[in-house]
Parts: sequence; C-alpha cells; structure tokens
Amino acid sequence: MAKGEPVAEDKLEDDLSEASMTRRRKIEHIEICLDEDVQCRRSSMYEHIGLIHNALPEIDKDKIDLTTNFLGLRAHAPLVIAAMTGGHPKTYEINRKLAGAAEELRIPIGVGSQRAAVEDPSLADTFRVVREAAPSVPVIANIGATHVDVAPDAVEMIDADILAIHLNPLQEAVQPEGDCNSEGVLDNISSIVDSVEVPVIVKETGAGISGEVAQSLESVGIDAIDVGGVGGTSWAAVEYFRAVKEDDDLKAQLGLDFWSWGIPTALSVIMVRDATELDVIATGGIRNGLDVAKSLSLGAMAAGIAHPLLRPAAMGSTLDVVVEVERILEGLKIAMYLTGCSRVDDLAERPLILSGELIDALNSLDIDFKKIAG
Ligand SMILES: Cc1cc2nc3c(=O)[nH]c(=O)nc-3n(C[C@H](O)[C@H](O)[C@H](O)COP(=O)(O)O)c2cc1C
Repeated sequence: MAKGEPVAEDKLEDDLSEASMTRRRKIEHIEICLDEDVQCRRSSMYEHIGLIHNALPEIDKDKIDLTTNFLGLRAHAPLVIAAMTGGHPKTYEINRKLAGAAEELRIPIGVGSQRAAVEDPSLADTFRVVREAAPSVPVIANIGATHVDVAPDAVEMIDADILAIHLNPLQEAVQPEGDCNSEGVLDNISSIVDSVEVPVIVKETGAGISGEVAQSLESVGIDAIDVGGVGGTSWAAVEYFRAVKEDDDLKAQLGLDFWSWGIPTALSVIMVRDATELDVIATGGIRNGLDVAKSLSLGAMAAGIAHPLLRPAAMGSTLDVVVEVERILEGLKIAMYLTGCSRVDDLAERPLILSGELIDALNSLDIDFKKIAG
C-alpha cells in the first residue's frame, strides 16, 4: 500500500483487534472535532489578564525578535503545534501539512499519541511523515504514561528531539471504553524519564495541571509541563459525541456533566509557575496572538495550539495552516509592539492587570496575585 493511502473501510470494520480499535477511535476523534462544537463552555481565564498599553513603545515593530529557546532548541517563535494525530492512514496527510507549516515557520510540532503505531508498526509512516516534512524544527514524540516500555521506540520512530507524556484521566473517565486505573502513573513517568535521552514534557489534554501535581512531576525529573488547560478543546465533549453515537446514555450524560471540568489555562500556568521551577507551555484555548502574549507574560516559555489548525490541515493545504499560524504570530507581534517588547523574554517583565474570577481563584488558593501582576 502506498504511504498514506486509506485502507478499505470494510477491512477496518471487520478487524476488532486492539490496534484496530485504537486506529478507529483516532479517526472518530478527528471527525467529531471537525463536525461538532467540542469547545469548553468555560474560558481559559485570559480575559481576566490585561497587558498595559504603551503609547510610547520606542521600538520598531519590524525588528521584534520572536526567537525562542525551546528546551535547549531554537524555534523561530514561542508557539507549538500541539499534539493531534497520527495512527490512522487518513491522518498521514493531516500530519504532513501540519509539519510542512511547522518547517516553513520554524516552530516546534508534536505528534499525536503513538500508541497505535506501537501496536501496529505499519502505521508508523503516519507519524514519521512529521519528521520528514519538518527536518529542522523541534519534533515532539507522544505516548501515554502507561506505555513505559515503548518510550525509546516512540522517540526513535520519528527521530524526536523531545518526548511528551500525555495525561487524560478526564477523557478516560467519560469514555465508553475508558481505563480509570491511575495507580502507579507517577512511577511510570519516572521510569520513562530514565529510559530516554531527550527532554520530557508532561502534558494534560484540556483539564489543566495544578501546582501540587506539577511538584510531583518535578520530583521525578521531568523537564517541562504543558498545562493543557480548560478553555479550548474539551475531551469530555468529544467523548459525549462518541457516547451519543454508541447509544451509551450514561457516558453521554457524564460527558455533558464534565464538559468544562478542570483548571483554566491561565490559572494553571500561574499555579505551575508558582509551585515549581519547570518550563511551562500554555495550551488549551489559545486562539490568538494576544493569548500567546499573555501566556508569556505569565512566565510560560511558549504557547501551544491544536484545534484551530485541524480544519486547515484536514480540509485545506499546508499554506492554509501557515496562514492561520501567521495570524497568531502577527497578533503576538502587535501585542509586543504595544507593550514595548522587542524580545519574547521582555513580556515576562511587563506588569499585568489581573481581575475578576482569576483574582478570586488565586486568593482562594493563597497565591499572591500582586507577585504575578508584578
Ligand atoms: C483532534 C485532536 C486530537 C488530539 N490528540 C492528542 C493526542 O493524541 N495526544 C495528546 O497529547 N494530545 C492530543 N490532543 C490535545 C491537544 O494537544 C491539546 O492539548 C488540546 O486540544 C487543547 O488545545 P486546543 O484548545 O488548542 O485544542 C488532541 C487535540 C485534538 C483537537
């Protein structure tokens, strides 16, 4: 079969192996994310953060430098194309276009969970295409915390620079076939850290990471946290739509009940930064350059974006993905210009105006908001 060529649907339907189920779930997730509204009904809390306008910026916008140190690697901007896909023949083209855009813009890119390719190596091409199309940017491998033995293989499969371990207990809890045994996950992460030679990021997938969890993760030697907070794609929502299709009324109701469960992205960035020295990526509901600028001003090293790039990659071209990312980067540059920041690190030095629910949350967590507002 040629690379990326779809396998016959009837063959998929007949094949009930675990690998086939994982593969089928992957494509269902993509279809639901394209067809349904799966966004959280709570915000990422960025609306409660204000940057202070500088009417005398005294810098040249054209000279703004977005270059970023991304875990020791160079990126042309502090924006990551977050893990989305791979593992089904139809995802080959999506990954090729996302990676082509990452290469053109010289920004880091993550692949989706490599579990399917570990179970069925014939699917490895759907991940390898990312390294092939993006030879000169940081590429991030992706596995779950239970896949301890396969971590080095996942890194090698795509010649990755970094490994991400995803956490998704919310999704497992509301998924019709979910696995809710999380015993020993921290030990697994510790073993994975010991088994690979690349930096390790632990990422949530839409429900955020608290300060306490971040401290536990820091204690086992990970390098960075991608908070994957509330405000963007909701995996309870995605699983709600799968449960409806499968006539699973209980799981559908639970998907509705937990649709917006978790820690909003901005709050999660603050909690992790307050509790640890780890590098932080702000993902979850990042929708424009202003959200990226606010993330950096909270001390994140970069922001990540997933869902808004899915449609251009699935229905459009590499250029369509590039255009969407460029819109975000232009917004970031404008925010930097209007705050007088010529380098990304300058944003962390700028004072902020915090308000509303975010202050209430910080007060109730006993985090000094004045320290953050600077
Ligand atoms: C279609 C789709 C598939 C995803 N698959 C994965 C995955 O396999 N592994 C992972 O770590 N995160 C996965 N994510 C989560 C994203 O990396 C990100 O954390 C989350 O979608 C929040 O970002 P957003 O609001 O910009 O979409 C996926 C997201 C989407 C939209």
